Amino acid sequence: MQMKDKVAVVTGAAQGIGRAVAEAYAREGARVAVADVRAEAAEEVADGIRRQGGEALAVLCDVSSRAEVDRAAADVKEAYGPIDVLVNNAGVTRPAMLHKMTDTEWDQVIAVHLSGSFYWLQAVVHDMIERERGRIIFSSSSTAQNGSIGQINYAAAKSGMLGMVRSAARELGRYNILVNAVAPAAATEMTLKVRTDPRFADAVKRLPLRRHAEPEEIAPTFVYLASDASSFVTGQVISVDGGGMMVR
Ligand SMILES: NC(=O)c1ccc[n+]([C@@H]2O[C@H](COP(=O)([O-])OP(=O)(O)OC[C@H]3O[C@@H](n4cnc5c(N)ncnc54)[C@H](O)[C@@H]3O)[C@@H](O)[C@H]2O)c1
Repeated sequence: MQMKDKVAVVTGAAQGIGRAVAEAYAREGARVAVADVRAEAAEEVADGIRRQGGEALAVLCDVSSRAEVDRAAADVKEAYGPIDVLVNNAGVTRPAMLHKMTDTEWDQVIAVHLSGSFYWLQAVVHDMIERERGRIIFSSSSTAQNGSIGQINYAAAKSGMLGMVRSAARELGRYNILVNAVAPAAATEMTLKVRTDPRFADAVKRLPLRRHAEPEEIAPTFVYLASDASSFVTGQVISVDGGGMMVR
């Protein structure tokens, strides 16, 4: 077991990649907080983990609210003790072309990805500094490098995350706190529309692996970045996208 007795928080863990990461962490022996804005779905994931013999706690948390993040972090600490691993994974899309995008569409995406990650960083970092250890992992996106038509808000948020990864990695390295990102591509609800839109039917054929991934194929990289195996890796982005970055 690579995460025995580690305390991990995974945001946006009620489905998709976050769910797969929470389940993988639990299988590796971690005590996992399944944090999501959808309480019932988070409870189902935590319940499933417990039924498999793992330790999990559902925490209701809209990451775009500092008060909710602080309360959720306090709940996790009370139940499990200080947090060893934070995964900033919660995400939303609000697609619109630049000339039509509303302030609300812009604000919501920035609030979840950037402010949410910032609030969670501040909620865990004091304990990590004091204990001189910690792992922080972001779910970024190839959109950070490539941009995306109709998603200037999402591209800005995901690029911003990489700035946060690199700044936090530089600030926190001296305390043995490692900060990295994964740029995934997986068949989840978030990507459902694109995967089923006939206009993008050929896109998957351009991928070197010529198929979409299940979230379970993304999760092992998050395990790696939380484990002793990555003890000298910080400030990095690892693409887990079937080689998609090469051909975009
Ligand atoms: N699936 C992909 O191919 C892909 C590609 C690049 C990046 N990503 C990123 O990976 C992460 C996970 O993506 P996914 O595909 O699993 O998405 P998903 O839509 O399946 O799941 C996102 C989860 O985040 C939760 N969430 C949304 N807003 C929240 C909030 N304010 N507070 C707390 N939780 C909230 C949702 O309830 C949901 O459970 C996201 O950050 C996404 O941007 C995914």
